[in-house]
Amino acid sequence: MKNIVVLVSGNGSNLQAIIDACESGQIQANVTAVFSNKHDAYGLERARNHAIPAHSLSAQDFLHSDGKPDRLAFDTKLMTQIDAYQPDLIILAGYMRILSGNFVEHYLGKMLNIHPSLLPKYSGLNTHQRAIDAGDCEHGTSVHFVTEELDGGPVILQAKVPVFEDDSADDLAKRVLIQEHNIYPLVSKWFIEGRLKMKQQQAYLDDQPLGEHGYAED
Ligand code: GAR
Repeated sequence: MKNIVVLVSGNGSNLQAIIDACESGQIQANVTAVFSNKHDAYGLERARNHAIPAHSLSAQDFLHSDGKPDRLAFDTKLMTQIDAYQPDLIILAGYMRILSGNFVEHYLGKMLNIHPSLLPKYSGLNTHQRAIDAGDCEHGTSVHFVTEELDGGPVILQAKVPVFEDDSADDLAKRVLIQEHNIYPLVSKWFIEGRLKMKQQQAYLDDQPLGEHGYAED
């Protein structure tokens, strides 16, 4: 059985979707550990509810002498702890912390992220409000490989949702999450089955290169 380690910062509904897909056999792997940069992330509680080891590291414990965050020290410790679980796949599921170059390099080609926009549109934060403000009539979510560029790694799969006139950012976020819970387990399954690879910053599914918007681009 393959091992998946998941990183969360908050609610962890995507983590839940991955755990459920592992438990139902959709993904032939186990979530062997969950890590968070927030000790009170509800995702940690979700892990414990499934008897999955749940760990947290606090940025406050990793500071330079001038009080600025020491990302490298934080990530080095995190890598050591993650690697103890011998992960085949690292899943970022609402992990809201900038990664150091070393961390990205260490897991290159086996780390996935889900980002709530139709990348390359709206990398960064507040994606739902930005889509509303721009008057977009469609929005969505993207699963991608993690590379050094923030939200810039090759897209594997996207799901679109409509934007209605009276939508709030919360309405849109809820609609997007429903899609995320479908596509993230699916992409994770592809990876665990060995169908999905990244070579030279390019994603391949069944040896076929994927386009800018991932699989099933329309
Ligand atoms: C998800 O919508 C995910 O796309 C987003 O955070 C939410 C986490 O929800 N991720 C990012 O914004 C990463 N840049 P969850 O904790 O319920 O899975």
